[in-house]
Amino acid sequence: MRAWFRIFSAGQVVHNLHDVFHRAGIDLYTPDEPLSGPGLAIVNEFDPRLRNFLQEARQAGVVRIIAINLPADHASGPATWSLLRAGVCDVLNWDRPDQTACAVAARLARWQIVDTLVTSSEVQNTLVGQSPVALSVLRQLVEAAYFTDSTILLMGESGTGKELAARLIHSLDQRANKGDLVVLDCTTVVPELSGSEFFGHERGAFTGAVTARDGAFALANGGTLFLDEVGDLPLGLQGQLLRVIQERCYKRVGGNTWHRTDFRLICATNRDLRQDIGQGRFRSDLYYRIAGDLFTIPPLRRRAEDILPLARHFTRSFSADSEPPEFDEAVRECFMLRDYPGNIRDLKQLVARIMRRYVGSGPITAGCLPEEERPERGEDPLEWCNEDFERCIRCAIARGIGLKDIGRTAENVAVRIAVADEQGNLQRAAARLRVTDRALQLRQAAVRPPDRQTLL
Ligand SMILES: Nc1ncnc2c1ncn2[C@@H]1O[C@H](COP(=O)(O)OP(=O)(O)OP(=O)(O)O)[C@@H](O)[C@H]1O
Ligand SMILES: [Mg+2]
Repeated sequence: MRAWFRIFSAGQVVHNLHDVFHRAGIDLYTPDEPLSGPGLAIVNEFDPRLRNFLQEARQAGVVRIIAINLPADHASGPATWSLLRAGVCDVLNWDRPDQTACAVAARLARWQIVDTLVTSSEVQNTLVGQSPVALSVLRQLVEAAYFTDSTILLMGESGTGKELAARLIHSLDQRANKGDLVVLDCTTVVPELSGSEFFGHERGAFTGAVTARDGAFALANGGTLFLDEVGDLPLGLQGQLLRVIQERCYKRVGGNTWHRTDFRLICATNRDLRQDIGQGRFRSDLYYRIAGDLFTIPPLRRRAEDILPLARHFTRSFSADSEPPEFDEAVRECFMLRDYPGNIRDLKQLVARIMRRYVGSGPITAGCLPEEERPERGEDPLEWCNEDFERCIRCAIARGIGLKDIGRTAENVAVRIAVADEQGNLQRAAARLRVTDRALQLRQAAVRPPDRQTLL
């Protein structure tokens, strides 16, 4: 395994770094430019140089950084929480070097598997999205799905992809002889019959029960039970689920025998369950049973970089076997200016409406947009510089960030978005940013700070 390293040690000497990590199976190297891959920040104080480095690493999309805290001969080392807030994903102490190196190796090995899965076509073609916020959730989902059989609660607004995420978790789940995914939509559960839908029933349990029938808990045995819209479960029924969720034991309606079942439980909701608990609409004892690992799927407005890649994904899926058409500039602008209250489902519907109007073989043009979709805004050069933009700048000024850094950060973000939008194609990204290819290459190289550390 390989990891880059960088020392921020204000004069403190670190002995045998390469040897210690080599014994743990890790080859350390000086970071490449632009920075990529996992790495180590070796630190003994949280100075501005370290803060800038971590910020730029984050902008370059590098999220796997472990801080190694050197034993400080003065006071305490950099505060763990400040380091985590600044973007490192863990902080380890260097007081027992071999043990620390093994701990790093274990993390690198796991990340390698997670990152391979995240970039696999199975995952990429299912949950589309390369924005930092989407990737962060995806990495966590994949890790929980693959390495554990934990109960998972998926939260997020309508249309953000919760059901898709539940299906992905089931498909990545590594249980041997895994059973099926059983989906139960809690909004459609009829309180009078619901016992039967969940628990099954014995013959003659109620009028019309002419044969015995398995319910969702039996059908999900060995597999995954997905309780969709769990927040809509009638209160009376919530209490009935406590035992089976905790002990995986249930009785059929009209029966006296306990049956065992074994399933992974995934629940989804677009409601704020904690608020519902406060208002007496959701049982807290059920909440703490279903809230094993919690993931919030972000709304589309928090991942605007994903709008065009998602739109392209949907044109591809609506184009059957033929090559999907591109969007011309006006259409791209329309996608970006629009709000998506229904999130990704909303965007998918918009693409479907456009594709029904599209004819010919050229790009999708403004005429393909249904009239009600044509932006009233647009072509106003200041339109993009709205209150969201102002909020970020206000925040930077409040933190004492200078004009030069604000400008540089805005440019770095623009470059990152354009390059991601064009799937890494620098030529197309340069055209989008209206700069030359050479200027973009130079800017990419300049993202790294000039100061370099040598190993002491
Ligand atoms: N990341 C994504 N990549 C590709 N398609 C997506 C993505 N997220 C959602 N979709 C698509 O958007 C639509 C809505 O997704 P899904 O049904 O999973 O959302 P949801 O969060 O369960 O919504 P609701 O709360 O309304 O049930 C589906 O057609 C799904 O295929
Ligand atoms: Mg759903």
